[in-house]
Amino acid sequence: MEKKRASIAIVTGASSGMGREFVRQIAESYRSISEIWVIARREQALLELQDELKEKTMIRTLPMDLAEKDACTELAALLKKEKPVIRILVNSAGLGHAGKLETQDVDQILNMIDVNCRALTAVTMTCLPYFRKGSRIIQLDSGSAFLPQPGFAAYAASKAYVLSLSRALKEELRSRQISVTAVCPGPVKTDFFATGGIKLNPVKRLFLIKPERVVRKALFDAEKGKAVSVCGGSMKLVRAASGVLPPGVMTWLSAMLFSF
Ligand SMILES: NC(=O)c1ccc[n+]([C@@H]2O[C@H](COP(=O)([O-])OP(=O)(O)OC[C@H]3O[C@@H](n4cnc5c(N)ncnc54)[C@H](OP(=O)(O)O)[C@@H]3O)[C@@H](O)[C@H]2O)c1
Repeated sequence: MEKKRASIAIVTGASSGMGREFVRQIAESYRSISEIWVIARREQALLELQDELKEKTMIRTLPMDLAEKDACTELAALLKKEKPVIRILVNSAGLGHAGKLETQDVDQILNMIDVNCRALTAVTMTCLPYFRKGSRIIQLDSGSAFLPQPGFAAYAASKAYVLSLSRALKEELRSRQISVTAVCPGPVKTDFFATGGIKLNPVKRLFLIKPERVVRKALFDAEKGKAVSVCGGSMKLVRAASGVLPPGVMTWLSAMLFSF
């Protein structure tokens, strides 16, 4: 008799912030998921999460640097060996560097694009054969996807890529009944700003929200099959404005209100 395939979740960027919160909420709410595979570079943080959740679910730690070109080789081999059903994939690994492009380090910006775009694409594609009807793909995007951001240009562009990719992939996967949700928050209280060496301006500080809220809404919206998950009135306003105002006006407003 064929062995029953395990139902799993995979979460990248699980060592902190929203990724870690996704792991906690999935462990709490999805009892049919038997194992959560967690990916990030900081192994110790992943082991601590494993220990924290040991009464609730099995956590498999997969420490890896997603900026490495062959980062997905290990994941692909593991999936091929174990052939699980991936019920939820969350791509939360990501980072941002602020400042005018002319002041930025090229390698640092390319590393950011590697994690935000290349790795997210590679992980998603590696997982595609293992999704089944009802599986959910959740891509950590950003409100930055809705508008160009002078002073955060490459980051916002990387997130526009994620939004475009997610919308198109959702359509491609419609017949398999697999949904793709791009999660587009404004500023969230995580290590994101410290990691990127970003000092928040007073306007952005006003809109800071907790990761728990963003993640709860994202999981809810993903189950409803929504293409985009936006948490909080301010980001809903930005999204609506980007749909009606000319791009030049949005970019000017963005420079006025949201620069660091
Ligand atoms: N916080 C915000 O205001 C905000 C707003 C909108 C969107 N977002 C997006 O939300 C996502 C999660 O960010 P967060 O706010 O939760 O920030 P965070 O706390 O800094 O988490 C980022 C995660 O990405 C992982 N990561 C970074 N580089 C990696 C690499 N090379 N290989 C593997 N993992 C890597 C980090 O793990 P290791 O360091 O252990 O590798 C960490 O777990 C990102 O995509 C970010 O762009 C954040």
